[in-house]
Amino acid sequence: MQNVDEDTITQIVLARHANAADGRLRQIMTNLVQHLHSFARDVELTEEEWFKGIQFLADVGHITDDKRQEFILLSDTLGLSMLVTALNNRKPKGCTESTVFGPFFVEDAPEYKNGDNVANGAKGESCFVSGKVTGLDGKAVADARIEVWQADSDGFYDVQYEGLAGSQGRGMLRSQADGTFHFRSITAESYPIPHDGPVGRMLQALGRHPWRPAHLHFMIEAPGYERLITHVFRSGDEYLNSDAVFGVRSSLIVDWDHHEAGQAPDGSESATPFSSLDFTFVLNRLNANAAAGAATSKVVSATA
Ligand code: BEZ
Ligand code: FE
Repeated sequence: MQNVDEDTITQIVLARHANAADGRLRQIMTNLVQHLHSFARDVELTEEEWFKGIQFLADVGHITDDKRQEFILLSDTLGLSMLVTALNNRKPKGCTESTVFGPFFVEDAPEYKNGDNVANGAKGESCFVSGKVTGLDGKAVADARIEVWQADSDGFYDVQYEGLAGSQGRGMLRSQADGTFHFRSITAESYPIPHDGPVGRMLQALGRHPWRPAHLHFMIEAPGYERLITHVFRSGDEYLNSDAVFGVRSSLIVDWDHHEAGQAPDGSESATPFSSLDFTFVLNRLNANAAAGAATSKVVSATA
């Protein structure tokens, strides 16, 4: 009979996992238990604090449904999502860096041609976006599949509006033969992540704000290259240094030029002021091993 006490409990729990058939599961659960127990010892966790933590996680679960993923939001705001992104997307210098996926991607967004307006009625100042997709060797990547999505000027994604028919501020287009692409949209603004639930209360208790700096989301795929999930951030945004989800990488910050009314980059006349930006996305080549896995991998998407 083993005596369970504060000194023996960790090893006793770990011994129970010794027969787990899945070696990776055993490794993950061993580490998790060790870290959880160390954490409780380090902070001398009280029973009251333990119960508060349990209640918090229950609240996170209760508000989570098919439209709102509070657990991912919790992971995002604790920096875990960005850490996992960084661990899994190491690439050679010069490649465009990856950042958090976020909860607002939608499969099967409408397909657009170069030059089209993906805003499709979303509120905001016009923005003309141009870019190029290349490999690390600088060669153009033609026919890359480019998904873009963004919030409107009120800080909401289309999926956050109840009963909105159709997509706004999102779409799919393809790079042209020379790797370039261009589309029209609206000027992204900084916005707060959903903060009316337990994660919002946690941020407030920690003296943190819920804001993300203005950004456009991109997901770019092309045969022979790793899928790139990233953002382009707007230089000068006041939240670049305090992104609520730690997604900013300095290489992803670009100037969004402001223009008075007049001729737009696509040759049309804009009666109102507008912005423009240009960004080159450098994709990493798939190696032979990764190629087999990537062919079957699927994006995990959730809506918050
Ligand atoms: C976003 O950028 O869309 C996002 C990322 C993480 C949490 C919430 C929103
Ligand atoms: Fe976003």
